[in-house]
Amino acid sequence: MPKRVRTAVFPVAGLGTRFLPATKAMPKEMLTVVDRPLIQYAVDEAREAGIEHLVFVTGRNKGVIEDHFDRQFELEHTLEMRGKTEALRELQKDLPSAGQTSFTRQQEPLGLGHAVWCARELVGNQPFALLLPDMVFRARPGVLKQMMDAYEEFGGNIIGVEEVDPKDVSSYGIVARGEGKDEGFRITGMVEKPKPSEAPSNLFISGRYILQPEIFSLLSEQTRGAGGEIQLTDAMQILIRTQEFWGVQYRGKVFDCGSKLGFLTANVVMALDRPDLAGPFIREMKAALASIDETP
Ligand code: G1P
Repeated sequence: MPKRVRTAVFPVAGLGTRFLPATKAMPKEMLTVVDRPLIQYAVDEAREAGIEHLVFVTGRNKGVIEDHFDRQFELEHTLEMRGKTEALRELQKDLPSAGQTSFTRQQEPLGLGHAVWCARELVGNQPFALLLPDMVFRARPGVLKQMMDAYEEFGGNIIGVEEVDPKDVSSYGIVARGEGKDEGFRITGMVEKPKPSEAPSNLFISGRYILQPEIFSLLSEQTRGAGGEIQLTDAMQILIRTQEFWGVQYRGKVFDCGSKLGFLTANVVMALDRPDLAGPFIREMKAALASIDETP
C-alpha cells in the first residue's frame, strides 16, 4: 500500500497578467465561474479526493484567499436572521475545518517549480497532491479522485493528462505514453512546452499531480528553464530516472481558465450544468445570439 496522500498544495501566487485589469487588485484565483471562485473548485476537488491539509502558496495581494476560507460571522448571522438557511448551509459546507489550511508565500515570481518548492516545510516528507487552480474540470468523480484511485493501485507519482489539439502542445507540459490503460499508464518521458514537431504525444499535463517528496530536493537544485522560470516539469524529468510516473487520462474535460476563451467557456458549460440556471440561461443565450451581428 502506498503512503496515504493527506496534503494538497495550491500555487496561488501568480500575477494574473492575462486578466488585467480584473486582477489588478483581486487575485485571479478569485475570478468566478458562475458563482464560485476558481480556487473553490480546486479545493472542492481536493476534499472530494480525501485531502485533509490544504497548503496555499500565496503572494502579495492574495490575502482575500485566506479570508475566503475563513468563517464570516457577520454574514452567517445575517443569513440566519433572514432565514436563508440553505445559503448558510452551502457556505458552511464549502469551508475547510479549523486547522486544515496553511499559508506560505512565494516571495518572488520564479515559476511553478519554485512555488511548489516553497511548500516543502509545510508538506514535509510525505506524498502530496498539487492542483493548479486555473484549471477547472467538468468531471465525475473529480479528476484528483480518479488519480487517487490510480495511486492506490500503482503508487509512485501520478499525472493527470488530457488530449490537446497538436497545434497547442507548446502551451503545456506534454508526456510520452508507455504501456497501460487510460486509468493508469507508464509515463516514459515529458517535456515542457515543446514545439509541435518535438512533442512526444498530444497528451498534456492539465494541472493535477500526485508527487513524492523527493521532488523538493530536485527543485532546490533546479536552474531556470523554459521562460526563465524554475520548471516543475524539468524536476519531474529528473525524478523519472529513479521513480515511477503514471499517467491518468481521466474521464472529464478541463477548462483552462488562465485564458479568456477557456474562462468564458467554463462559465457557459458550468452554468448549463446547473439545474437552477440551465433552462433560463439557454433561453437568454438564444435570444442574445439571434440579435448579435458577428461584426460589432
Ligand atoms: C504549467 C506547467 C505545465 C502544465 C500547465 C497546465 O504551465 O508547467 O506543464 O501543462 O501548467 O496549466 P504554466 O501554465 O504555468 O505555464
